[in-house]
Amino acid sequence: MLVRDLSCEDMSRPVIGVLTPRLKWRLQSPIRGDAQTAYQVQAGSSAGAADLWDSGKVTSSAQAATYAGSALAARQRVYWQVRVWDAASAVSQWATSSFELGLLANSDWGSALMIGYQTGASASGGYPAACVRKTFTVAAKTITRARLYATALGFYRPHLNGQRVGQVELAPGWTDPTKRLHAQAYDVTSLLTSGAASVLGLQLGDGHIQGNISTLGRGYYGNDVPRAACALFIDYADGTTDTIVSDASWKGTASANTLNDLYLGSSADTRNHLPFASTAVSDSGWGVVSTKALGSVPIQMQPYPHIRRQETLTAVAVTNPSAGVYVFDLGQNHAGIPRLTVSGLARGTTVTLQAAEDTKKDGSGTLYTANLRTAVQTDTFVTDGTATQVLEPLHTYHGFRYVAVTGLPSAPTASQMQSSVLHADTKEVGSFTCSNATLNTLWGMARWAHRSNHMSIPTDCPQRDERLGWSADAMLFARSATFSRDNAAWLAKYTQDLVDGTSAGKGPDVAPYITQVGRGNAGWADAVVVIPWTLYQVYGDTKYLSLAYSTITTVLANLPWSSNSYGDYLNLSDPTNSAQFSAAVSIRTAQTIAKIATVLGDASTANSATSTAASMLSSWQSTYVTSTDGTVSPSSQTAYVLGLAFGLIPAAQTAQAAAKLANLITTNGLKVGFVGLAFLYDALADNGQLSLAYSLATSTVYPSLGYAAANGATTTPEQWNPRAFQSTAASQDANSYNHPIRGCILEWLMRDVAGIDLDASAPGYANVILRPRPGGGVTYAQGAYEGPRGRIESDWNVNSKGMSWHVVVPPNSTAILSLPPAYGTAKIAGADISTMAAVASADPITGGKRYSLPSGAYDFNLST
Ligand code: BGC
Repeated sequence: MLVRDLSCEDMSRPVIGVLTPRLKWRLQSPIRGDAQTAYQVQAGSSAGAADLWDSGKVTSSAQAATYAGSALAARQRVYWQVRVWDAASAVSQWATSSFELGLLANSDWGSALMIGYQTGASASGGYPAACVRKTFTVAAKTITRARLYATALGFYRPHLNGQRVGQVELAPGWTDPTKRLHAQAYDVTSLLTSGAASVLGLQLGDGHIQGNISTLGRGYYGNDVPRAACALFIDYADGTTDTIVSDASWKGTASANTLNDLYLGSSADTRNHLPFASTAVSDSGWGVVSTKALGSVPIQMQPYPHIRRQETLTAVAVTNPSAGVYVFDLGQNHAGIPRLTVSGLARGTTVTLQAAEDTKKDGSGTLYTANLRTAVQTDTFVTDGTATQVLEPLHTYHGFRYVAVTGLPSAPTASQMQSSVLHADTKEVGSFTCSNATLNTLWGMARWAHRSNHMSIPTDCPQRDERLGWSADAMLFARSATFSRDNAAWLAKYTQDLVDGTSAGKGPDVAPYITQVGRGNAGWADAVVVIPWTLYQVYGDTKYLSLAYSTITTVLANLPWSSNSYGDYLNLSDPTNSAQFSAAVSIRTAQTIAKIATVLGDASTANSATSTAASMLSSWQSTYVTSTDGTVSPSSQTAYVLGLAFGLIPAAQTAQAAAKLANLITTNGLKVGFVGLAFLYDALADNGQLSLAYSLATSTVYPSLGYAAANGATTTPEQWNPRAFQSTAASQDANSYNHPIRGCILEWLMRDVAGIDLDASAPGYANVILRPRPGGGVTYAQGAYEGPRGRIESDWNVNSKGMSWHVVVPPNSTAILSLPPAYGTAKIAGADISTMAAVASADPITGGKRYSLPSGAYDFNLST
């Protein structure tokens, strides 16, 4: 048995703020039916040591343990190793990893203060970025370790002795600063020299706290200059530690940057560029920083992977649509930081970059920018005259595929423009491909939309003056997100944002919450219940439930959801009755709370949620399912979808209801909005309308994602046809080309097309459901997913003899092999599958035969 992918608090080798972290691992084994029968975890203060903890041999199949060793302290480094015993009681090799504790309480920051420097009057766009720094001398002793911890009210970038530290972008990320601030830790040991004069500096930026938020303007959290706090700990071999903290002794100056804003972009007069955190630059003329106490809002170590540059895109084409304007095409809509390399420009030349998602549909080749609204994402540079200069904005990112450049004296080549794709540094875990080109394109569009909206929060879109953590968007895409990337820590962080934003039992419409929007809206507010439940289902760990549970119980006390501001957002003239919609969502919310309470052993809340759900369900049925033939009234496509997907329609009538939904769709065209779309494919496929689900999914006719793709979309758009909306002034308001919520078909592709799903009764893929559902003319599909226990694969291929099917079930798991109903026989390596345990009942969804499959890799041949 191989133990791999060790994680701590769902991250790889993190710096954490948790004293009893969850340690987890994945397994791999070539032996069928292999299982973990026991584990042993050791933790120590050096690699391989066990001086902090030795769990001993624990008889358990859990691929997780909570640290239970000697009490840990701030800044402590912990090495840990785990080994497991397999089904034959053979023990594995040790697998090793480490984690480190950061600063745990505000008092650990010593005398650090929040420092800022007023670089000039706050222009409407924001403050010019300040540089603050401190000169100090490192003791002439051997340095064993140096760590920098920093946070900000705004953005910060750390520099030490002339080098940028850490390559983390948009730090410290967005949280509600009245509830908590996140901090990052950096290993700076190699940047310090014993006995040498040193300079520690921070480049500040407006960020979420001082910059524009939504259309609320600047200073939503109070007008102030951007501020940051940091603490540098230098540990010496003699056991002593020196600490340098941000305080009144720091000096400040303006940088070359004159504007930095998430929406507006960034401006710099690069002639004034200063390698400010270097001893080569004197700070004698600099001003004194202003200070504020750290305060009592807890500063916590960032509990999810940092935002980093992930890959570089290089422009594939450049055009010259009008005199002096060059439009670069990066070939892919994404969120990133553009970077233009220029050569031979006279000092003082002004070069402007504007990023946009599309060019105008009038064929002029100029940028379409109306959908950015006030977020002009424009970067301006005054060049410094060096032979070759790289121009890149600071403390911002844009949502774009195209960049228009002015100010260049001659035609550039495409390769002069690049972009750093930016998002949280999570691991990619899922892959999908099949014989249908449209479905493959949709998988790619959805993945890119997720990556583009994968910052410190799940944003709704990366381009316009919004970029908010809309709760419906995050909730409806949550399962898809888990198939795309290892999102446990990232979604848990957002769950905390939802908890922080909930008041009086009402979940927020956006998290971090802002007063511009509401709370308690059905279909949005329930995210604080549904996302932790999704995390528990996918990762099999109750910690996500516990994180939100005290808030979840307040939600129960306030059900049903009484407001419904957004309804089935962007439905095509087929609105769903507001009371009917809210009641449907309320039932699912109560049912989910009942399940959560049951898992957490809170029988009284479970009973109360169950009876609340039951009485709301009976009322929904008597009000909206008035006949016995599956008619839902008032009727809308989404009313049927929710009725079917949430189990609100009596079982005896579901097939008829699905047929009525199918009829509405084939007669009137697809009309559902965002909420209906998220459940559409399941509502159809699970109720006898699989072929319609495939035909909608593979469609290239309006309205469909395939149509959007055929019209140039490379991410899932907010409107089915964003190009058409370019000219409709009123609709420009909501015409993002990059809305992940529209890509929630991603989970259906993995679950129903590739055939990899979880068993709700055995969370965390303890029992994998392998249930491909060939249809829609798709002849093969290949899905792979790094689940919490290990790698899962399902590759099938329909051929003239039947269907070949390769599956991989990770060790320590079982699977249900659910045969597509067209196939009655399965052979494995010459033997009949009936040598394996048949599940007595047929698949409740497809009616196909089912078998219990031990873990391992198999190749089956299915025939009729
Ligand atoms: C966002 C949506 C969000 C909605 C609420 C929009 O502006 O982009 O995705 O859920 O507002 O209706």
